[in-house]
Amino acid sequence: MNGCTIEVPINRRLEGKVAIITGGASGFGESTVRLFARHGAIVVIADVQDERGKSICQELGSFENVSYVRCDVTSDIDVKNLIDFTISKYKTLDIMFNNAGIPGNLDFTIVDADNENFKRVFDVNVYGAFLGAKHAARVMIPAKKGVILFTSSVASVVSGESPHSYTVSKHAVVGLTKNLCVELGRHGIRVNCISPTAVATPLLTKAVGVDKTVMEKILGESSNLKGVVPKSEDVAEAALYLCSEESKFVSGINLVVDGGYSTTNQTYTRAIKSFLS
Ligand SMILES: NC(=O)c1ccc[n+]([C@@H]2O[C@H](COP(=O)([O-])OP(=O)(O)OC[C@H]3O[C@@H](n4cnc5c(N)ncnc54)[C@H](O)[C@@H]3O)[C@@H](O)[C@H]2O)c1
Repeated sequence: MNGCTIEVPINRRLEGKVAIITGGASGFGESTVRLFARHGAIVVIADVQDERGKSICQELGSFENVSYVRCDVTSDIDVKNLIDFTISKYKTLDIMFNNAGIPGNLDFTIVDADNENFKRVFDVNVYGAFLGAKHAARVMIPAKKGVILFTSSVASVVSGESPHSYTVSKHAVVGLTKNLCVELGRHGIRVNCISPTAVATPLLTKAVGVDKTVMEKILGESSNLKGVVPKSEDVAEAALYLCSEESKFVSGINLVVDGGYSTTNQTYTRAIKSFLS
């Protein structure tokens, strides 16, 4: 469901909370913006897609309290301004969702891998996440509260299916999550990450070069859990859990949202079946 819904949740789980969502103009970020707004949060969309960011704000006008700030997460000054804007407008920051990311080139061999691409993927996926956490912690530590959330990937737990640059960047995000969980726990700040499976967002459909319907067919075929096509809303629901009071004692986890995909490897079973048939 992409459009704004008139359905109002009975239990508004983020009432009055102030949340920043990087990469909030598309995919997982956009779905999370919509879900958080429905749950009563004040949301700041941080992205580099100005038109999309602004149009989501306009569309969610009935919910009020949704702003767009242009912010390249690889720029220290942009991220600093994003946090400062949020504090000056809304007085506090409860949730920092560092979600912006790029897939980079689909280089699958180390020998042919493009060095500049590797640096670019790290710049957005790791340095961008680091800057978001750093500037958020600056205001959350004195407040003695807050939630920092990252988007990692199933590539942090399953190897060989994504390019090296992307896989390594998403492992780094899990490392950052765990280290920050330890450092910031004493300040009452929780830090977690979500590792989604492949979902047919613009990131994936553009990278693979197929449309959403075809991508979802492929994902349905490869899924461990049959009968459910993974959607960006499933990631938003995980984010809602990790940012709400329901998870108030949960910190340092990598929540894998993949319908069990990463728990199984049936290559041997398939090989033996095809050998015996
Ligand atoms: N779609 C998948 O299959 C999948 C699976 C696992 C993890 N992820 C991760 O989920 C996150 C969100 O991806 P998505 O699938 O929703 O993709 P998406 O392309 O739909 O959305 C990503 C958003 O991030 C923004 N962005 C990119 N670079 C930025 C920058 N430098 N500064 C600010 N914003 C920037 C883009 O403009 C875009 O709006 C990413 O971190 C991605 O690596 C995606």
